[in-house]
Amino acid sequence: MSSSSIPEHLQWTGDDLAGAVLTGEQIQQRVAELGETISADYGDTPPLLVCVLKGAVTFMSDLMRAVRLPCDIDFMAVSSYGAATKSSGVVRIIKDLESDIAGRHVLIVEDIVDSGLTLNYLRKYLGARKPASLEVCALLLKEGEQKVEQTIRYVGFTIPSTFVVGYGLDVAEKYRNLDGIYTYQGEGS
Ligand code: IMP
Ligand code: MG
Repeated sequence: MSSSSIPEHLQWTGDDLAGAVLTGEQIQQRVAELGETISADYGDTPPLLVCVLKGAVTFMSDLMRAVRLPCDIDFMAVSSYGAATKSSGVVRIIKDLESDIAGRHVLIVEDIVDSGLTLNYLRKYLGARKPASLEVCALLLKEGEQKVEQTIRYVGFTIPSTFVVGYGLDVAEKYRNLDGIYTYQGEGS
């Protein structure tokens, strides 16, 4: 697909991107819904939102403003991918939480679940610290790719299994700053 099929404000991306998987507007609408649901579900037990850096940073910043509860936030950084577009299956903790999560209601905020290996590792890692509850809110779930069976309480969208960029998601650190989510068709895809 040529660069003319993507919006004008994204022409600088050249031929790396195919069509939009989700527009910025679609994402904003769904994030608002997720915020409402989370607010209703947690009620008087506000969650600690744990953003998984870097990919979930955009989602986190929108979602936290859509949650109408006095929730706290914290950050973890993990690395499961190199510059390539396939999961290595090896998860490395680059930055740990600052908060003590024992007895707290923790909601992990993730950008995308592909094989599920990253999330599976994180759940075990954080679960060992005895939170009162541990749930996941993932913006995207890649259809049919999960290698580990798990329950994801909040899912924004289920998408076909192609490599995507934008709204926090990158390829070799590029394209995190796009407002929507696009299929990547550049080198290595
Ligand atoms: P998993 O361990 O295979 O589920 O991969 C999870 C992590 O890999 C996500 O948190 C993302 O950071 C990254 N990832 C997976 N699929 C994509 C994609 O299509 N685009 C960008 N990053 C991705
Ligand atoms: Mg991630």
